[in-house]
Amino acid sequence: MNSPKVRADELRNLINRYAYEYYVQDNPSVTDGVYDSLIQELKAIEKAHPELITSESPTQRIAAEPLDKFAKVSHAKPMLSLEDVFSMVEVEAWVKRVDKLLPGSAPEFFCDIKMDGLACALIYQNGRLERAVTRGDGRIGEDVTQNVRTIASVPLVLRRPNEAADFSRGTTEVRGEIIMYKKDFAALNRHRQEQGLPVFANPRNLAAGTIRQLDPKLVASRPLRFRAYDLFREDDNTYPPTFLEAYQLLRDIGFAVNQVEAHRGLNGVKRFVAVWQDKRHELPFSTDGLVIKVNDRAQYERLGVVGKNPRGAVAYKFAAEKTTAKLRGIVISLGRTGAATPVAVFDPVQLAGTTVQHASLHNADEIAKKDIRLGDTVIIFKAGDIIPQVESVVKEMRPPGAKPFDFEGELKRQFPGLEFNRPKGEAVYRLRSRSGKLLLKKALTHFASRGALDIDKLGEKNVAALVDAGLVRDLADIYTLKTKQLLKLNRFAELSAANLLAGIQKAKRPELARFIYGLGIRHVGQRTAADLATRFGSLSKLANATLDAIEAVEGVGPVVAESVVAWFADLANRRLLEKFDSVGVRPKTARKPAGKLQGKAIAVTGTLKNMSREEAADQIRALGGVFQTGVGKNTDFLVAGQSAGSAKLSAAKRLRKPILDEAAFLEMIK
Ligand code: IVH
Repeated sequence: MNSPKVRADELRNLINRYAYEYYVQDNPSVTDGVYDSLIQELKAIEKAHPELITSESPTQRIAAEPLDKFAKVSHAKPMLSLEDVFSMVEVEAWVKRVDKLLPGSAPEFFCDIKMDGLACALIYQNGRLERAVTRGDGRIGEDVTQNVRTIASVPLVLRRPNEAADFSRGTTEVRGEIIMYKKDFAALNRHRQEQGLPVFANPRNLAAGTIRQLDPKLVASRPLRFRAYDLFREDDNTYPPTFLEAYQLLRDIGFAVNQVEAHRGLNGVKRFVAVWQDKRHELPFSTDGLVIKVNDRAQYERLGVVGKNPRGAVAYKFAAEKTTAKLRGIVISLGRTGAATPVAVFDPVQLAGTTVQHASLHNADEIAKKDIRLGDTVIIFKAGDIIPQVESVVKEMRPPGAKPFDFEGELKRQFPGLEFNRPKGEAVYRLRSRSGKLLLKKALTHFASRGALDIDKLGEKNVAALVDAGLVRDLADIYTLKTKQLLKLNRFAELSAANLLAGIQKAKRPELARFIYGLGIRHVGQRTAADLATRFGSLSKLANATLDAIEAVEGVGPVVAESVVAWFADLANRRLLEKFDSVGVRPKTARKPAGKLQGKAIAVTGTLKNMSREEAADQIRALGGVFQTGVGKNTDFLVAGQSAGSAKLSAAKRLRKPILDEAAFLEMIK
């Protein structure tokens, strides 16, 4: 029997080796179960023998206490950024500049993938992770060590593969990118969706947002990864002679790196660009381009820096993918700051791997400058591969009679009774502040009203007092009100304050339908809110539903559907939902009646002998199905009675949807 110390060391070595196989070599030799059981065994030993715990033990990645804030730290060498180029012609121009500065050197080019995450510097002291610092402004970053320690692919101790790569003395700095794999991002969002929580917009923002969390436990629960791209020794200022060798060394000492290549001359670089241009979506993480560097480190350093960019490297940005879409509407979204932001709503289209149905138009000037009109066919693209934007209008396809978009007229139509102005020199229309408070009072009164969250004692007068006193700035703020704050207002004494707070607490688990209604989405009344709740079941499913799926809900027309999509597209509203979540408001997931027609979307045409259309609709709903007024892509089948309308029949045939006669339908619902 080994001593606990020997066994603990053995376990740590095994765990580190398996983590290396998994994260760096991408070739695990044991299952997750084996790995977990080793961790459990080590934890048990450490529990019985706390004196054996070392800060580098794989069980010690999560610090105990959340921080108050991050400390600022200066970088030993500035963290630079890369100049962007967008074509091979620009790459050639860069190579010419390099040739001019290094005459006759015929440099080799190192080619890498540009990861879309956030840069981070890891500082190892005598081989042990001492500090992790964000890029910040390039000179000074934030100390995020506690958080970075939780990232399993960051070695806490550098490996020592051989004599040549012995970094167990002095200071070693490794730089790289913190990223989240697309599959991990999707799984995390799926999980949040199941819990009825709002989902995140994209992996990069999630990774960046996570690293700025003060509580390392939360960070540990998010599957971040680290991939290295640079290595140097702080004390003696040495580098491996080439980037290619640096990457080999990085791998040897424990870091995941990309598949890279070095080429003399531009042909190899062109091939690398062509290959990844094509295969970029196959990478496990998001990328927006490639990195091309002079491979020789001495040459690279000699080329120096212009501004914040090294002359020896460029980022080759992939062209954003584009597609056309038909503009269905422009919905104006009112942010919490009172800014009126126009949002374009399209028929859903596929763009760079996702379904897109809306894009921010920024402001009235942009609509005017691009001359975007309702019904136009527009070209959309994704900025940085993520956020859809309108590039231009295909004027040839403009429907006859389309008029320029009247922003002010539209503001009046969409927000009757509210006053907007456009501060001098600004492009954005804003609510006059009087209107802002007025709007919030209206919104909160509605939120607390009978049909919505039905919050006792939160009527118009109390709402007005809370808003005027500045205690409530958005709907979620009511959940953080304190007795002390209320007692400062004339309207409250001990008992009335306690009653109000109790009423608010009771409203933390509202029914989904009431909550949706309470949000005050334009055109969404109680009935529609109830239909949406039953159809989608959770807030996040509704938040991510496509325009078509929303419009397929009976009684929901294009105007309502657009309004719902636009509301959830607005970042300020997404933040409001996150805030509700963070203060503990969890709408109850609407339970759908589990019936024979669960989840089936059914349309009916013609006259039925045994029931009226309304009865058929009720039956379908009672069995968990969705009654549709038209046949569309997501229709499951059509029930055709006598003298069936030819439009629905031909649509069903065209879309190859099953058509049932009345007898077959009755059989089905029996
Ligand atoms: S090399 C001068 N390699 O892209 C910095 N950077 O503006 C040289 N990035 O902030 C960095 N993937 O965080 C390099 N394979 C890669 C990269 C990469 C992503 C980031 C890096 C930097 C930005 C360039």
